[in-house]
Amino acid sequence: MPPRPIIIDCDPGVDDAIALLLAFAAAAEFDLLGITTVAGNVPLALTQANARRICHLAQRTDVPVYAGCPRPLLRSLVTAEEVHGSTGIEGTNLPQPTMPLQSQHAVAFLIERLTTASTPITLATLGPLTNLAVALIQCPAIVQGIDQVVMMGGSLGAGNITPAAEFNVYVDPHAAKVVVDAGLPLTMIGLDVTHQVVTTPDRLAALKALDTPVGKAAAGMLRYYGQLDLERHHLAASPLHDPCVIAYLLRPDLFTGRPMHLAIETEGTLCLGRTVANGHPTPTAPANATVIETANADGIYALLTERLGKL
Ligand code: RIB
Ligand code: CA
Repeated sequence: MPPRPIIIDCDPGVDDAIALLLAFAAAAEFDLLGITTVAGNVPLALTQANARRICHLAQRTDVPVYAGCPRPLLRSLVTAEEVHGSTGIEGTNLPQPTMPLQSQHAVAFLIERLTTASTPITLATLGPLTNLAVALIQCPAIVQGIDQVVMMGGSLGAGNITPAAEFNVYVDPHAAKVVVDAGLPLTMIGLDVTHQVVTTPDRLAALKALDTPVGKAAAGMLRYYGQLDLERHHLAASPLHDPCVIAYLLRPDLFTGRPMHLAIETEGTLCLGRTVANGHPTPTAPANATVIETANADGIYALLTERLGKL
């Protein structure tokens, strides 16, 4: 199989950083066309710089990094420094990047690549969906250039930023609605799945035992990350959200899901940003997404550790 063309849209963010490292370690499977960044976990100035820091760490400064939207479509930006630290990738001390940030806006890059693609491109979205939504609004024809969108976002159960909403969708619910309503081949990996994939001490130790710059950086970030999730969700350990998207693209057999009708709550306060999934689609509410429900956590960490060990 030739490597699949892929673009990763992200808001690094600790778990985004781990997801990027896993993608870099899949050079045989992925032709990584570019990394587009968006405001989310931390402001855009940090997410774009952090993406480039991770490129340096993985010695993949050949991958172009683009800055996108600095705020949601309508709402004011909400960030998550309490989860990711003030730098966005707390737990490691990566130097200022020297690779250039692309001058082209991320939305323009998405439109250019998706309207000229000879082979449809896979989009992995790991943050608020603002960039993709703006690209869809500006140029609906990009749909023809998209093979599939796999998004980390949403939740069938409890939220994490509010009781009802998951962070990525909550930050920009209007963008999420644009994406969900666009008729794209969409796969949703939400908290129901990622809360099954938690970084236990043994799993953290296995990454640390790689004893490489990548392993040490990943272990350092994960050791810091998600402490709030532990307190808030009483989980055995902090969940590994974004790497599940890359793991799904590499090993879909580690996951199960089914077609559902997905809708986004864009009104109100208590339930703003809620992903409402109907597992029994009807002609008036047809399936518009594959919603992933289970994950093989041991298999995911084995994949992550094995691949990061090769970087
Ligand atoms: O809710 C978890 C998601 O929000 C992850 O993508 C994390 O990086 C933040 O963006
Ligand atoms: Ca993210």
